[in-house]
Amino acid sequence: MKNAFRVAVIGGDGIGPEVVDAAIPAIERAARIDGATIAWERMPYGADHFLRSGETLPDSAFQRLQNEVDAILVGALGDPRVPDQRHARDILLGLRFRLDLYINLRPCRLLHPDLCPLKGDRKIDLVIFRENTEGLYLARGRSSNVGTPEEEQIAEDVHTAPKVTRIIRAAFEWAKAHGKAHVTMADKSNAIPAHHIWQRIFAQVGEQFPGIERDHYYIDALVMQLVKRPEQFQVIVTNNLFGDIISDLSAQLVGGLGVAPSGNLHPGKVGLFEPVHGSAPKYAGQNTANPMATILTGAMLLRELGLAAGATRLEDGVGQALAAGIRTSDLGGKMGTAEVGKWIDDRIRGSN
Ligand code: NAD
Ligand code: IPM
Ligand code: MN
Repeated sequence: MKNAFRVAVIGGDGIGPEVVDAAIPAIERAARIDGATIAWERMPYGADHFLRSGETLPDSAFQRLQNEVDAILVGALGDPRVPDQRHARDILLGLRFRLDLYINLRPCRLLHPDLCPLKGDRKIDLVIFRENTEGLYLARGRSSNVGTPEEEQIAEDVHTAPKVTRIIRAAFEWAKAHGKAHVTMADKSNAIPAHHIWQRIFAQVGEQFPGIERDHYYIDALVMQLVKRPEQFQVIVTNNLFGDIISDLSAQLVGGLGVAPSGNLHPGKVGLFEPVHGSAPKYAGQNTANPMATILTGAMLLRELGLAAGATRLEDGVGQALAAGIRTSDLGGKMGTAEVGKWIDDRIRGSN
């Protein structure tokens, strides 16, 4: 079995480099539990590099990412000095599209009871399967009369059978593999006829998974239900834009963006792993951002590489840190980014 891995790292902008630096030692140590080593290959792409060189993601880097690494870890991209975020679109969305990473997997699990803003004793454990390669994110459309009182902006919301099928199938397959009894699909087909395809394909694919129940909500009702009774959800599958929006809402149900991980996947291809949060420019360089989302992202990365014991150990480390009050200020604590990362790393070292 393979035990030496190469992982590319794009720290990116704002808090991205800090959370990645804080998380890497613990991820590396956790990999050793499975007898594996990780060679990290740092890449400089982000706003600084773009402003200096005019380059977003050069083709040579894309080729390396596609062919020569086992996984990609990204901090965050987004910088107020690049008002149209061109570099972020090229790097982050560009990699999702060009590597055809059609599954944006975003788990939301309540790791400590006091992180949930809802009343009562809650048990939240759901995953979002966000379609990651089409919808409004294709940015197809046209504009006319820009800057005049007659300005018109048209964006096409694209949903094609092969792509809707593969994300829905991925959600059911994941549900089956993880012993989940329910898959929920959300669209807005009552107002947007182009969303009907989701209903049809959800029924067709779902029939091939007889042990799994299907639920459907229109997206507006889904967000209401997510706040009202999140326990009813196990697997939610939806389009690119709705998946983006419900990711942040669901994250806040379990402690916020500081603890929300994600993976961009296409089975058999290199995966791109990143916290759900962005570059939070206000907090950049202050050692205050929460690195837990990136550490939990590292757990997803290890699991994809087949390093399951290390992945579990990282998740346990985050749970233990939360229980011990080792927290950054977003979770009511006083610790810094680096200190939280080190505590979790030390904890993993101690348990080996
Ligand atoms: P954001 O996720 O960067 O931050 C929103 C708020 O969430 C922050 O102000 C902060 O209060 C909190 N937060 C986020 N991450 C945190 C962490 N690790 N620890 C503690 N608190 C945290 O969203 P935004 O302000 O809308 O976007 C800022 C920039 O990031 C924009 O340029 C946006 O396009 C970009 N962005 C990038 C990604 C990505 O790289 N994957 C994701 C979302 C947003
Ligand atoms: C995310 C982000 C990105 C998205 C932005 C930065 C383009 O919000 O990963 O959730 O919309 O997908
Ligand atoms: Mn988002």
